[in-house]
Amino acid sequence: MQSQRATHNTVVVGLQWGDEGKGKIVDLLAANARHVVRFQGGNNAGHTLVVDGETVILHLIPSGVLQPHTTCVIGNGVVVDPEVLVGELDALEKRGHSVGPETLLLSADAHLVLPIHRTLDGLREQALGGDMIGTTKKGIGPAYEDKVARRGVQAGALLDIARLRKDLESTLDEKNRMFTEWYGAKSVSIDELIEWAQPLIERLAPYIGDSVGHLHRAADQSESILFEGAQGTFLDVDHGTYPFVTSSNTVAGNAAAGTGMGPKDLHAVVGIVKAYATRVGAGPFPTQLPPEQEEALRSQGGEFGATTGRPRSCGWFDAPMVRHAIRLNGVTNLVLTKLDVLSGIKEIQIGVSYDTPEGESRFSGNPIYETMPGWDEDITACRSYDELPETCKAYVERLESLVGIQIGLVSVGPGREQVIPRESLFREAIH
Ligand code: GDP
Ligand code: IMO
Ligand code: MG
Repeated sequence: MQSQRATHNTVVVGLQWGDEGKGKIVDLLAANARHVVRFQGGNNAGHTLVVDGETVILHLIPSGVLQPHTTCVIGNGVVVDPEVLVGELDALEKRGHSVGPETLLLSADAHLVLPIHRTLDGLREQALGGDMIGTTKKGIGPAYEDKVARRGVQAGALLDIARLRKDLESTLDEKNRMFTEWYGAKSVSIDELIEWAQPLIERLAPYIGDSVGHLHRAADQSESILFEGAQGTFLDVDHGTYPFVTSSNTVAGNAAAGTGMGPKDLHAVVGIVKAYATRVGAGPFPTQLPPEQEEALRSQGGEFGATTGRPRSCGWFDAPMVRHAIRLNGVTNLVLTKLDVLSGIKEIQIGVSYDTPEGESRFSGNPIYETMPGWDEDITACRSYDELPETCKAYVERLESLVGIQIGLVSVGPGREQVIPRESLFREAIH
């Protein structure tokens, strides 16, 4: 019945270049959600959860998996490497977090990342040389290309071997021409691919189903849904620093298309920002620090990729870009993470505008900085806003006034409990 339909569905997205701490915040908010669904990206994502001192890094399984009453859904908009998914299920099981088909549903419509996609990702990057995008080489771009070109292989094909063979053939012919004629690489046979898929089929078949029906039934029963974004706004294929982007729409609007829910089923949009900025891979990064300062911030913040281990480039908070990201995503609630990492820095800079006529970036111009005094205190044990040092609060409030929206949650460490809630949405998830 329409009147009982869930009214507290929340989308979580990153507002910079990824790694803002989405996993931590999704895990936290999942305490109050019945379902957590990923809507785009694939295992290029690395989402880190720290619960009771245990660190879990997830690439495909939604970050609600450690909450006891949550069902996790991999939505139709995700590209899924079945080998990685099985590896992730095995790793969780080894650690005592067994994830059965009653807790995880893989959309039959999600497209598969195949070994040939990984190979092509690597060959393309190599061929680009100095112009490379710096992808994760997980095959994400080539898998989305096949989806849009209408020659992809969907998870549902794993349930029907005749369909699987036919669908694999439709993508393989072209790939083999590319491998051999363009890149001088080896071709792959259909039998090799079927052999690769066989053990994965057995393992994953029970998880594959109708995710769209599942989510709508849940919403009809007033069960709340949390939508987990991957990557960040400036890696969005339309709105990011193209071509140095990922191959999907990362903005909140895609939470609808990537799951089959309607836009009216998205009730709040939580945007996550780091207290500074990072990016992995190539592409513009206007507020990037000079090498020595960058190295210091990187080691203080542990800024190494959760998926590839690559050092992340580090820089100052870029207010005009975050302001733009808030618009693009329709953010209703803002979370500031990793504020603790700035402790001990004498003077903190903020990119407040650009030397362009509009004062905005749109990826050109140079940032104009404002300097604020830092603080020395360790803030990782603070649990209420009043406990923060005055200069730290002044920094938070300056960011709020620059981006035009209140910060509803401040994160002061990697642990689930290391948060300072300032709005009811977050207070409710903690207690
Ligand atoms: P995601 O991709 O957005 O989920 O973020 P990642 O997990 O890739 O990177 C965020 C990193 O910062 C992880 O190592 C988290 O454990 C860590 N982290 C998250 N929030 C905080 C925080 O407030 N303080 C500190 N020091 N670390 C944090
Ligand atoms: P989470 O969800 C940070 C970056 C890659 C590269 C570009 C394209 O953990 O925030 P791709 O493999 O997607 O074709 O690479 O996107 N990238 C990420 N950077 N966090 C991520 O995910 C990323 N996923 C992709 O480094 O620059
Ligand atoms: Mg990450």
